[in-house]
Amino acid sequence: MTMGTRFFQWKNDAQKNDAISEAAQIIRAGGLVGIPTETVYGLGANGLNGEAVKHIFEAKGRPQDNPLILHIASVDWLERYCEDVPELAYLLAEKFWPGPLTMILRRKNIVPDVTTGGLNTVGIRFPDHSITLEIISKADVPIAAPSANTSGRPSCTTAADVLEDMNGKIEGIVDGGPCRVGVESTIIDLTVTPPRLLRPGGLPLESLQEICGDIEIDQAVTRQLKDGETAKAPGMKYRHYAPKAPVTVVTGDAQKAAAYIRAHLAPTGGVICFDEFVPMFEGHALESLGSAFDQAEQARRVFDALRFFDSTDVSEIWAQCPDSAGLGLAVANRLKKAAGFHVIDADEEERA
Ligand code: TXA
Ligand code: MG
Repeated sequence: MTMGTRFFQWKNDAQKNDAISEAAQIIRAGGLVGIPTETVYGLGANGLNGEAVKHIFEAKGRPQDNPLILHIASVDWLERYCEDVPELAYLLAEKFWPGPLTMILRRKNIVPDVTTGGLNTVGIRFPDHSITLEIISKADVPIAAPSANTSGRPSCTTAADVLEDMNGKIEGIVDGGPCRVGVESTIIDLTVTPPRLLRPGGLPLESLQEICGDIEIDQAVTRQLKDGETAKAPGMKYRHYAPKAPVTVVTGDAQKAAAYIRAHLAPTGGVICFDEFVPMFEGHALESLGSAFDQAEQARRVFDALRFFDSTDVSEIWAQCPDSAGLGLAVANRLKKAAGFHVIDADEEERA
């Protein structure tokens, strides 16, 4: 089914308030709205309305077993949707909410099965974006929202990206500007001991470790799962963020990685690299991730870089990759997933 998708933008506060009210009204009526967050754009619906949530899966082409995150506008909403909330959840909320952190907690029955993919847990996030917080408060329901991309494509970091993927499939898109963080939230499962990192994201693992101490890292974070293995975050098992052309990620010392790419790059190949190495790839379709030393910029740019190549006819894509400290863990994870974990270590290649 196709429908007219409204695109909400504004020039003054009155128009902004109207846009927020109309978006909240669409959500309350069971419709779908593309909403801005600090991480990536979300595709939102009333998370307590099973029918509405079903439409999210249809619009994205997303497998039904892949649960959604509930977005809330206040910490005290936790008790409405979650059971047995541990003290640690409140500590993390105090420290990092609103912000790029999703906590997996035991759910209450008020949360429908479609939202949680049938799991007895639910992911909860208090996003740090004033427009979306106002929409949630006005709608007075938690907004279930996956990233707003078509399933399998790179996530959307601008309202224009959402329009590209969702035009005609949803009721509205709210333009809240480009996303400040650029990679999705960090997901931590608090229903197990020690807590488990299910997805690296906009909140560095090191920040969580300061509060939680020991954190187990789910195997799906660092490698491709084999047939029959399960990811604790169901979404981590799917091929993801993938441009049409095959991607190869080169890790290790940045200088060596750039040299390796230059030596192996086909004439029709595209490159994702750090600013410092751009001159080495003249004549090739190229996206820079920003400086090798600026992880925040790399996070902001990584999805845009991956999306860019779909408008070109490159035969292959080579990507430089940050090491896994700080936000680098999330950026590297997104690049490696886009590559189907086809990774070459430039340091090892040199030794071999
Ligand atoms: O930053 C973000 O988290 C963005 C913005 C819109 O908030 N949302 C987002 O949602 O990335 P999505 O659906 O694209 O990714 C959510 C991930 C999926 O891998 C899903 O499997 C996992 O979270 N997930 C959701 N609920 C879960 C649960 N109860 N247990 C384990 N994993 C869960
Ligand atoms: Mg997603």
